[in-house]
Amino acid sequence: MKYTLNVNGQSRAVDVAPDTPLLWVLRDSLELTGTKYGCGVGQCGACTIHLNGVPARACMTPVSTVGRMKVTTIEGLAGADALHPLQLAFIEHDGFQCGYCTPGQICSAQGLINEGKARTRDEVRELMSGNLCRCAAYPNIVDAVKQAKTQMKEA
Ligand code: FES
Repeated sequence: MKYTLNVNGQSRAVDVAPDTPLLWVLRDSLELTGTKYGCGVGQCGACTIHLNGVPARACMTPVSTVGRMKVTTIEGLAGADALHPLQLAFIEHDGFQCGYCTPGQICSAQGLINEGKARTRDEVRELMSGNLCRCAAYPNIVDAVKQAKTQMKEA
């Protein structure tokens, strides 16, 4: 089946089976490999992207359900010339070690900030508990999200 997706502000045509997870469409068909495969069953958060600004698990999203929703991946979160405040904060606070979970962490964090959440460290910890980090960089991730939220509020 042919689909035309809106990905990172661009119209992208793909020809895939309707039940193909968006994760594989992004990675294999569109070569947007920032979105990671972890568990494939919606439990690790590595594949988190945004659909119309709301975090979603790309591994659990059949391409046939996307329609005209705006898909945003880690590649589309920042502008072309600068890193996103969350990316800068993750670097500053060592919010990663291997970095595999980081795109999903950042997309989830942006979702919280979009919703006016991430007000306290406990809230960040609780609401991002679905994003697993095998390196256990959790305290630094919380620091990074808190800093980015403050900066984005001031901007
Ligand atoms: Fe999608 Fe783990 S790969 S939640």
